[in-house]
Amino acid sequence: PLPPLTAKFRKLLDHVCIKCYDDFSPSALEDTARERIRLDLEEFIKREFQGARLSLFGSSKNGFGFKQSDLDICMTIDGIENAEDLDCIKTIEDLARLLRKHQGLRNILPITSAKVPIVKFYHGRSGLEGDISLYNTLALHNTELLASYAAIDPRVKYLCYTMKVFTKICDIGDASRGSLSSYAYTLMVLFFLQQRNPPVIPVLQEIYKDKKPEILVDGWNAYFFSQLDELRLYWPDFGKNKESVGELWLGLLRYYTEDFDFKEHVICIRRKSLLTTFKKQWTSKYIVIEDPFDLNHNLGAGLSRKMTNFIMKAFINGRRVFGTTVKDFPKEYPSKMEYF
Ligand code: CTP
Ligand code: MG
Repeated sequence: PLPPLTAKFRKLLDHVCIKCYDDFSPSALEDTARERIRLDLEEFIKREFQGARLSLFGSSKNGFGFKQSDLDICMTIDGIENAEDLDCIKTIEDLARLLRKHQGLRNILPITSAKVPIVKFYHGRSGLEGDISLYNTLALHNTELLASYAAIDPRVKYLCYTMKVFTKICDIGDASRGSLSSYAYTLMVLFFLQQRNPPVIPVLQEIYKDKKPEILVDGWNAYFFSQLDELRLYWPDFGKNKESVGELWLGLLRYYTEDFDFKEHVICIRRKSLLTTFKKQWTSKYIVIEDPFDLNHNLGAGLSRKMTNFIMKAFINGRRVFGTTVKDFPKEYPSKMEYF
């Protein structure tokens, strides 16, 4: 147990969390620039792929984007229902050949061996990296789901940004290097906010009038309650949680280091009652995070034991650092954040 925090330090914690959002969230102008790149690429691709449509998803659209976040783009073609009706590998290769002719792009790299084949690119003028995947339809839906949670309460955004900054500084936020994706950490924050008493956010997938509607996407039900202006009528806990962001941030670090039983339970934002790792038969991993729509997808499946320990240690250190009163936080971010 750590000594109690001073009121002044609590204020400082609030300030740090809000600052993560202020420093790293893109301006309206930067958001428009992303939209313009999407449109320009769509026009360009349409010349060879008739009926091609590009949609932005991921952090460009889910409310948790950084200025430097990559451009996640999904391509669909009018008249083609789903990926099964398309030779994905050939399409990605053709797309790469075409994009190499685009003046504004560099480092075109098709990756066809991945679970989701993509073509990567670098957009010179904006300095942004991006990738185009095909019929990544569930990701479009989980982007909408996350955006809805972000819109419910400003503390959701502050905490998800703080979490992202924390994971980047601790070097635990890069799935391509064996740790967890931003998406996985965002699910961890949302789960914590749902489990808090009183909760800060509801479980949108459990709110419906009579019977849960079915919106089938790739065989999964992608329904969630999206009429947020009516949320107070359907969610009895609306507005009950009055904690400050700083309190919640420390609460989150405490929750994942002291309260949450990783061996027993799944991090799962689609239901309020706790789901067991036993029920999912996901008992071989310590950190288990269920995708809200693709219920066969455990976002922690790729973690080694060593990486799991490294992540848990980062949380334990974080809990100590943020739970110990100091007069001031450093004025600068660690140099790692400069590349952000
Ligand atoms: N995604 C997914 N399942 C995963 C990883 C990603 O469905 N295992 C989807 C999510 O919609 C996610 C998007 O792909 O938001 C993009 O992933 P990524 O670029 O890794 O994360 P972002 O949320 O975009 O965050 P960042 O700012 O770090 O790019
Ligand atoms: Mg992204």
